[in-house]
Amino acid sequence: MKAFTLARVIPLVPIDVDDAAEHTLRAPAVKPNELPLRDTRLRPLRDLRISVTDRCNFRCVYCMPKEVFGKDYAFLPRRELLSFEEIERIARAFVGLGVEKIRLTGGEPLLRKDLEYLVELLARLRTPRGEDVELTLTTNGSLLSRKAQSLLDAGLKRITVSLDSIDEAVFQRMNGVGFPAALVMEGIDAALRVGLAPVKVNMVVKRGVNDTQILPMARHFRGTGVEVRFIEFMDVGASNGWNMKSVVPSSEIVRRIDAVFPLVRTGREKPSDTSVRFRYADDQGKIGVISSVSQPFCGDCTRLRLSADGQLFTCLFASRGLDIRKPLRNGCADDALRQLIADLWTRRADRYSEQRDESSITLDQSKVEMSFIGG
Ligand code: GTP
Ligand code: 5AD
Ligand code: SF4
Ligand code: SF4
Repeated sequence: MKAFTLARVIPLVPIDVDDAAEHTLRAPAVKPNELPLRDTRLRPLRDLRISVTDRCNFRCVYCMPKEVFGKDYAFLPRRELLSFEEIERIARAFVGLGVEKIRLTGGEPLLRKDLEYLVELLARLRTPRGEDVELTLTTNGSLLSRKAQSLLDAGLKRITVSLDSIDEAVFQRMNGVGFPAALVMEGIDAALRVGLAPVKVNMVVKRGVNDTQILPMARHFRGTGVEVRFIEFMDVGASNGWNMKSVVPSSEIVRRIDAVFPLVRTGREKPSDTSVRFRYADDQGKIGVISSVSQPFCGDCTRLRLSADGQLFTCLFASRGLDIRKPLRNGCADDALRQLIADLWTRRADRYSEQRDESSITLDQSKVEMSFIGG
C-alpha cells in the first residue's frame, strides 16, 4: 500500500537528480525557529533584489558603456527570462525565509512589459508574521512619468530614481544616449505627485565627469522631500574601466555640501542600510552617502540578488550564481526551493568590498555586470 502511494506521487515533470531531487527528499525543510537564516558571518537574509531584465535604454558610462554594450551585445533571449509567476514563486520562498524587503531592478525594470502585473503579485506577499513586504523599485526614470500611477495602483510602495546630474550636457553625456535630465525630473515629479514616497535619487559620482554636480543636485532637491544619495563609483563588473582616481570619497562629498549647507550626521537608520544619512541643519530634508569603496559595509550586508534568468548571487561582486530556474522548471517543490536557498545563504561568506583593500587576497576578475544582477 505504501509503495503504491509512493508510486502515485512521482511527479509528471522529471526532476533533475543532481539538484532538485536531492533536496525534495530532504525533510523536513527549513524550520521556522531557524529563522532568520544567517550566513557564516551571522548576517541575516532580509533583502531580495530582483532583476527583471538585463536590458536598458541608457548606456551610463559607469554601468553599461556603449563601447561594450553595443549593437551586437548578446542580451538574454526572451525564453531565458523568468516569467512573473516564476519570480513570484521564488520571492514567496524568500519571504517565507525571512526576507522583508524586495527591490525590483534591471537593467531598466520599466522596460519589462506589464511589470505592473509582477508588482501586483509581489504586493500580495506577507511575511510569516503577516506583515507587508517593503516593495520598491530602482529606475532610470525615463518611463516614470507614464508609469508612476499604475505602479502605485499595483501596490508599489516607494521608488528610487537614478539621476547623475541636473545639468543637461553633463547628464546626457553620462547616460550615453543623450536622454534629457528634464524628462527624468518629470518622472520624479510624477512619483512625488502620486505618492510613491519617499522618493530617493541615486547619483553616482565620478571624478572629472559629474563631481561639479554635487552641489547643484543638493541645492535642487533640498526642501522637496526627495532624498539624494551620493554614491561612490564602484568597481562592479568588468567593463566600466574603474580606477581609484575616479572615486570621490563620501567624506569629500559631505565636506563640499556641508561648506554651503551645514549638515548634521544622523547615521544609518538600520545596520544593513547602504547609506549613511545626514540632515540639513536648517531642516530642509536629508541626504545619504553610499561609501562602498572608502567605507565598505559588508559586515551587515543582508542582500541577495536574483538575475533575470534565475541565478542567485550572494554578492554584487560575485562571479558565479546558483541557477534556481532549472530546479524550478523541473518541478521542484516549495520545500525544496526553500532548502536550496537556505543552503546557499548559510554557506555564504562574501565581503568583497572589504577585501578590495586587503592586498594579500587576489580577487576574481570575472565579476558579473551590475546591469545583469541589478543595482
Ligand atoms: P533603500 O532601500 O532606499 O535604503 O535603498 P538601497 O540603498 O538598499 O538600494 P539602492 O538600490 O538605492 O542602492 C543604492 C546603491 O547602493 C546601489 O545602486 C549601489 O550603487 C549601492 N549598493 C546597493 N546594494 C549594495 C551592496 O550590496 N553592495 C555594495 N557594495 N553596494 C551596494
Ligand atoms: N558604481 C556605483 N553604482 C552603480 N550603479 C551602477 N553602476 C554603478 C557603479 N559602477 C548603480 C547606480 C544606479 C543603479 C541602477 O546602479 O546607483 O542608480
Ligand atoms: Fe541603465 Fe541604470 Fe545601468 Fe544606467 S545605471 S545603464 S540606467 S541600468
Ligand atoms: Fe554585500 Fe558584497 Fe556589497 Fe559587501 S560587496 S555589501 S557582501 S553585496
